[in-house]
Amino acid sequence: MYDRFKRKINYLRVSVTDRCNLRCTYCMPEKGVDLIKHEDILSFEDIVKVVKTGVELGIDKVRLTGGEPLIRRSIIDLVNMISEIDGIKDLAMTTNGVFLDRYAVPLAKAGLHRVNISLDTLDPEKYKKITRVGIIDSVFNGIEAAKKAGLIPIKINCVIKESPSEPDAQEVAAFCKKNNLQVRFIKEMDLETGVFSRVIGGDGGYCKICNRLRLTANGKIKPCLFSDLEFDVRELGIEKAFRQAIDMKPKSGSENRVNKFSNIGG
Ligand code: 5AD
Ligand code: SF4
Repeated sequence: MYDRFKRKINYLRVSVTDRCNLRCTYCMPEKGVDLIKHEDILSFEDIVKVVKTGVELGIDKVRLTGGEPLIRRSIIDLVNMISEIDGIKDLAMTTNGVFLDRYAVPLAKAGLHRVNISLDTLDPEKYKKITRVGIIDSVFNGIEAAKKAGLIPIKINCVIKESPSEPDAQEVAAFCKKNNLQVRFIKEMDLETGVFSRVIGGDGGYCKICNRLRLTANGKIKPCLFSDLEFDVRELGIEKAFRQAIDMKPKSGSENRVNKFSNIGG
């Protein structure tokens, strides 16, 4: 489907949980955030219904996000269910990589094509500081496991303050080159104040060519990361929620006071 600005909408990002095992400083306050109530979280059956309707309307690219998607119970079953839907050309996941060591092979077997993994530094101390609780070796192991399982091409999401020439970003870039990974630099954003910019090495944040919709873990279709607009699939019905989201997709982002990165998955 095309929106008002003739953008072809073919990409759905599905947040499967607003929970995470890490507490990255730019994503979550230390004490965590108000969490979606369990009874409001979409079931796998509901998610599959939404994705199927999306595919009927022209979605052919799906990404699972969070929070951290790998902490949703039985996530492999969901990947299986989604990979069986006809018409999806690209099925990916954005993860912090911590549990990939364990999940890479089952994910690949379930039909996931590839993963994007978050890594902002190579320094174990700094990694700990950024994520508040993370152990960097688990990510390195996760990356290796993903490679072995063939979840490629692997993209590394590296959040930067200002520029890719920052020392940590340079180190991550060198690591990626050496290990055959694609790096994308994401300038730290602020949903509330509407501070965002284009992802360096990716398509994100470029409003003119934005082909995305987002589904939140509690069943709201969002036409834009930097907008308060959302359309509830349970209130409106799935197709109507999609159609309204596409019709109302703003020309460019402004600000979003109703979501946090942790519940919309970037
Ligand atoms: N600004 C930019 N990127 C962010 N992410 C999380 N919070 C922010 C933020 N405030 C990124 C993570 C992850 C992706 C899902 O979103 O680093 O790679
Ligand atoms: Fe978790 Fe990702 Fe947020 Fe870090 S950025 S706290 S890994 S959801």
